[in-house]
Amino acid sequence: MTTTSIASMNIAVLGSGVVGQVLADGFLKHGHTVRRGSRDAAKLADWAAAAGARASAGTFADTAAWADLVVLAVKGSAAETVLDQTGPANLAGKVVIDATNPIADAPPDHGVLRYFTAANESLMERLQARVAAARFVKAFSCVGNAFMVNPQFEGGPPTMFICGDDADAKRVVTSLLDAFGWATEDMGTVHAARAIEPLCQLWCLPGMTGKGWRHAFKMLR
Ligand SMILES: NC(=O)c1ccc[n+]([C@@H]2O[C@H](COP(=O)([O-])OP(=O)(O)OC[C@H]3O[C@@H](n4cnc5c(N)ncnc54)[C@H](OP(=O)(O)O)[C@@H]3O)[C@@H](O)[C@H]2O)c1
Repeated sequence: MTTTSIASMNIAVLGSGVVGQVLADGFLKHGHTVRRGSRDAAKLADWAAAAGARASAGTFADTAAWADLVVLAVKGSAAETVLDQTGPANLAGKVVIDATNPIADAPPDHGVLRYFTAANESLMERLQARVAAARFVKAFSCVGNAFMVNPQFEGGPPTMFICGDDADAKRVVTSLLDAFGWATEDMGTVHAARAIEPLCQLWCLPGMTGKGWRHAFKMLR
């Protein structure tokens, strides 16, 4: 069994979008060293220059090769392609936090985001099957980017639902989520992504129907 250290890690954040930026800034804030990845590293040069000595940018492949842990924060429909571009060997054995959602290009229907996956499958299952040697953990997919790092709600810490097949990987991700101010609920194996990924549809629905975007989920018992 692999036991991964969680002190100060080299974290690759694959994604030049807002989620990549928020998570990269969050990991820097919490003492890690961060390299962001893109097909075109030049588009991240300004971010890297402004973010300080522990920040850098590169391609998907060289960013992942350098890292102890990888965060996948790319467009859901491109996620499998990005794994191919990253190179399975650069992900082998590593914890891969999967923040993606399988959002289709078609517009929402009555405020409900359309997915390109069916109900009895998930994007993370496809990703785990594509790179079997990586240790995927679903996280950050069920909340808007404004609340991913140290969210403040009157009701206390919200719940981050995670899943994945590797217990050590989920322990590492739970520790990172502890620092980010989340209460973590481990929902089980990679198959649980079938239930976690649709939480993005539910999270977005109030926003899509005019009820605002300031909320998060909390598990009560
Ligand atoms: N926005 C939110 O608040 C939120 C919340 C939870 C989860 N998520 C999920 O987080 C992920 C990232 O969201 P985002 O809004 O930050 O960014 P995004 O626009 O969904 O994705 C941008 C990233 O996808 C890559 N990409 C797009 N098309 C590609 C292609 N054909 N081939 C290779 N790479 C491609 C881009 O690569 P380049 O850098 O090379 O351009 C870029 O790094 C999504 O899966 C989203 O569903 C979003």
